[in-house]
Amino acid sequence: MRKQIKRLVSAFPEVDLTHVIRSPKQFAHSLSEYTRIYTAGRDAIFFACRGLRLEAGVPVWLPSFHCGVEVQAILDAGAVAGFYRIRPDLSVDENDLLRKLDAQPGPVLLIHYFGFPQPGTRRIAAQCSARKIPLIEDCAHALFSRHEGTPLGDFAPIAIYSFRKTLPVYDGGGLRVQQGRIPAESSRGFECPELSSAADGLMRLFKDLGRRTAGPMLTRLYRRARFGAESRSREQVRANTVIPEVRSYGTGISKLSRRIASQADPLKIVESRRRNWSALAARVQAPKVFSCLGEGICPLFFPIWVKNRAKVIATLADSGVETFVFGEFAHPLLPLDEYPETKRMRDDILCLPLHQRLRPVDLRYAGAALERALSPL
Ligand SMILES: Cc1ncc(COP(=O)(O)O)c(C=O)c1O
Repeated sequence: MRKQIKRLVSAFPEVDLTHVIRSPKQFAHSLSEYTRIYTAGRDAIFFACRGLRLEAGVPVWLPSFHCGVEVQAILDAGAVAGFYRIRPDLSVDENDLLRKLDAQPGPVLLIHYFGFPQPGTRRIAAQCSARKIPLIEDCAHALFSRHEGTPLGDFAPIAIYSFRKTLPVYDGGGLRVQQGRIPAESSRGFECPELSSAADGLMRLFKDLGRRTAGPMLTRLYRRARFGAESRSREQVRANTVIPEVRSYGTGISKLSRRIASQADPLKIVESRRRNWSALAARVQAPKVFSCLGEGICPLFFPIWVKNRAKVIATLADSGVETFVFGEFAHPLLPLDEYPETKRMRDDILCLPLHQRLRPVDLRYAGAALERALSPL
């Protein structure tokens, strides 16, 4: 007989319709500072790449640890993908990157994993700038995160974001371009057309409302299907999603998500996520991917190293604790034998939830569930 789930701890903040009637907060202003806002971060990567005047054969340098969607967006934009090494601690192997840039210059995509800044960000930005190479900061995990007092995304002339990972919205991704910092000869402009028509916007608004009015019941049914009865066979149903089925780019963010996003209070979000990180850090015994939470970091998750990850995921799911896995499958273009160290990253990193809507009781519950999941008995 299946156990009763006592509490549901989601990996991402759920959409909340009450946000629609609240008054806009600080983020409403910041939204207008993005060059373009799309339905997802991958659109921003696609158009960032399209906006650069890349000659045939010029590679875009991508990290060896990735989710694949970012690699595919680059390829779909017509560019060639090259890879640089990510060290076992998830930092960029700067020597490897510079060697490759010297041999074959091309734009660099830099990922700040799970909201944690790449330690070499300032140096890498300086090296790219000295070579007149555009740096693209991939802040898909790092909305509101700062490094050495500067917001992530400000180190590079181009930055991309995925609002839907941090905010309680189900779509939204941003592109920010500082045109003045890109050599004129390597830019063909980033004025991509806004493809979301009024009719499309209206249709999506109805879909949004449909999802929301069905609200908690659907969420519960979905969770039951995903984490309840199905949890033990979850490993078998996990699919390789590095190349998404739908690969049309350029749809704008839905009006509802834009409205909800504008309610975000970045300071409060950062504060809650940091508080939740500390609560988990005090409780979790498993080895952490990042040993401490530096000043200004807005963590997306609490990543740990685990053996037997599929079993731990299933056991946590049985308790109602949703987890997240990043980069389980490398993009097929990555030569796996040249990057053997990425295997452990793909296989053993497990992300625990810590988003802003979780309360101390949720974190205690998740911590206890993890203890049980990791106990040898
Ligand atoms: C590092 C990274 N970059 C970019 C993306 C693309 O973001 P989105 O899912 O919003 O398209 C993702 C997620 O898929 C990601 O993890």
